[in-house]
Amino acid sequence: MSRFYITTPIYYVNAPPHLGTFYTTVVADSLARYHRAQGEDTFFLTGLDEHGTKIERIARERGLEPQAYTDLMAVKFQEAWRRAEITNDDFIRTTSARHVQAVTEMWKRMEEAGDIYPADYDGMYCVGCEDWKSEDDVIIEAGEKVCPIHHRPVERVKEKNYFFRLKKYAGRLLSLYETPGFIRPESRRNEVASFVRGGLNDISVSRMRKSVAWGIPVPGDHDHVIYVWIDALTNYLTVLGGPGAVAREGTSRERWHAAHHLIAKDILRFHAVYWPAMLMSAGLPMPAGVVCHGYLTVKGQKISKSLPATRVDPLLIADDLGIEPLRYFVLREYALGGDGDFTYEALLQRYESDLGNDLGNLLNRTVSMAHRFRKGTVPPFTPGAADAMEEVVKMGGGWAARSAGALWRDFSPAQALEASWKLIREANRFIDSRKPWVLAKHEDNKHEDNQGGDPLDAVLAICCESLRTTARLIAPAMPGTARKILAQLGRPESEAETWPADGQFAWPGGTMGAPEPLFPRLDAEKKAALIAKWMPADPAAEASPRADGSEPAAGHQHLLPIEKAELDRIELRAARILACERVPKTDKLLKLTLDIGSEQRTVISGIAGAYQPEALVGRTVMYLANLKPAKIRGVISQGMILTAGDTDVLALSAFDREVPPGTRIG
Ligand code: MSP
Repeated sequence: MSRFYITTPIYYVNAPPHLGTFYTTVVADSLARYHRAQGEDTFFLTGLDEHGTKIERIARERGLEPQAYTDLMAVKFQEAWRRAEITNDDFIRTTSARHVQAVTEMWKRMEEAGDIYPADYDGMYCVGCEDWKSEDDVIIEAGEKVCPIHHRPVERVKEKNYFFRLKKYAGRLLSLYETPGFIRPESRRNEVASFVRGGLNDISVSRMRKSVAWGIPVPGDHDHVIYVWIDALTNYLTVLGGPGAVAREGTSRERWHAAHHLIAKDILRFHAVYWPAMLMSAGLPMPAGVVCHGYLTVKGQKISKSLPATRVDPLLIADDLGIEPLRYFVLREYALGGDGDFTYEALLQRYESDLGNDLGNLLNRTVSMAHRFRKGTVPPFTPGAADAMEEVVKMGGGWAARSAGALWRDFSPAQALEASWKLIREANRFIDSRKPWVLAKHEDNKHEDNQGGDPLDAVLAICCESLRTTARLIAPAMPGTARKILAQLGRPESEAETWPADGQFAWPGGTMGAPEPLFPRLDAEKKAALIAKWMPADPAAEASPRADGSEPAAGHQHLLPIEKAELDRIELRAARILACERVPKTDKLLKLTLDIGSEQRTVISGIAGAYQPEALVGRTVMYLANLKPAKIRGVISQGMILTAGDTDVLALSAFDREVPPGTRIG
């Protein structure tokens, strides 16, 4: 039996999921769904990395015991994945007893192989990365050695540690990378191979319990705790029954051979170097490989929980748009491998064009015409009754199923969906060219162009079958939408669970449900309001739990330092409010006319909850003059005035003595 085992990284629980973690998890889910639809024995794992300094500290900062904190966060993750329609077969938590047992076993195997030895460590550690840093890995900021990823000072660690003989495995690792597909894409394989060729050092794999208590004890030496990455990587074996189960012949081992680790490039070295070396040391077989994708970014910056300004909340978007358009968007927009920038505008653009205009429209036209011309019932399609155009669409169905299938197998969701969309577009063109509404007017020319079939029935059946095939092709990405399409076509929803067989393109007949738009249109005003709602309002606030249930204060420690030159680009000026009025049909927005010395400016500001318009006229405030203009409620807003706080409890910036409008602030 063909098997497929897919894993996501197990996420740190120091913040709830964001668009970056959502992305990896949705990609893994769609791959799992595709392989399940093929009838393969599929196993999909995600979970949480709950040990280590980072988690211990954040829990204590919030006044919680680490276990209580991780328990709360685990609920948040599971709830988020449920809403994101993630169909993981298991959910691993590294604080679970089965995992502690598996890690202990893994350590013992590596120790028995003679690969663990004690030595003194004196070096640097980044808690953000949970990784050791060499002099070459750090940069200097404000006179301190900081991690270039987290921009936080690295910590000096000087203690007795256990080391793992990583260096010993360099040769075997290099041969492993020759296995086709072990590291995808190819560019990443080359990167890893040259890293290993550059020389490996043995790595420290434990911490003294007195400095890090939150972890799994080293077997036989409880003064030490196992390094969080050795702990975390072992999760992939835990769920199969641990190292011993994988070492023996049987289902666990077969699954293990089919294991693909889906990750982003931040943790490639751990998965492509440390992990295979650990497995070699423990006498265990290799997984199928590592599939590495790039970063989702916001304005070029990696989306990350430690940079709140990049925070994009998938569930907030889902509240308004539904989760499936967002699933579709991330799968379709970003080819696996490279980096990709996220914008709300691009999301709404695809919502409108791919989902509304292409897919939604095809369904709506088809179902409406079936109701109008055939009382909702479209009889089975008779093969052989097709004319040339019908043939094109039929072929398109077979082509799309074949190529999309190959692309899903090749870990290319974006291209698989692109191929699927060719069928949708072809079917829309087919309707335009065959004009069923004209055929309906001339029902008497029935027998002319289709060797005996009813031309209108044939056209409708081709449309229905294109949609039925489409539903099955998009089901890995949008399972609920696939079911809704089938329901509207009068077909069993369970058809979404199997992939269309090659050459199978025959409409079995169906009585349509009520036509219901899948992706309602959004006008410009609605789109602007949605974007305003989704934008991180107070990027410094983090949504992770505290003992008293309150939200943490602005996390200054998370702010990214900027250069003086960047500050110089920001034009802050004193501005006098000349006029102010409410923006109609909103309860938050005011329209301000500002005098900025050289000219007048119009600004829309969300302060109506806190200020009456007439109370503001004549006041002088701080104004950000060179913010890119944005259209809000049909008005071009030129810049913004500075306030503190949010929505109803906010304060306007002010000067403590008279300042002429236009005065530069700096
Ligand atoms: N706990 C470790 C992983 C241990 S696996 C044995 C860890 N956790 S993490 O919470 O930091 O998650 C990192 C992973 O989250 C990335 O490898 C990637 O899968 C996903 N992503 C986080 N931010 C992302 C982007 N901005 N873009 C794409 N993927 C993102 O590292």
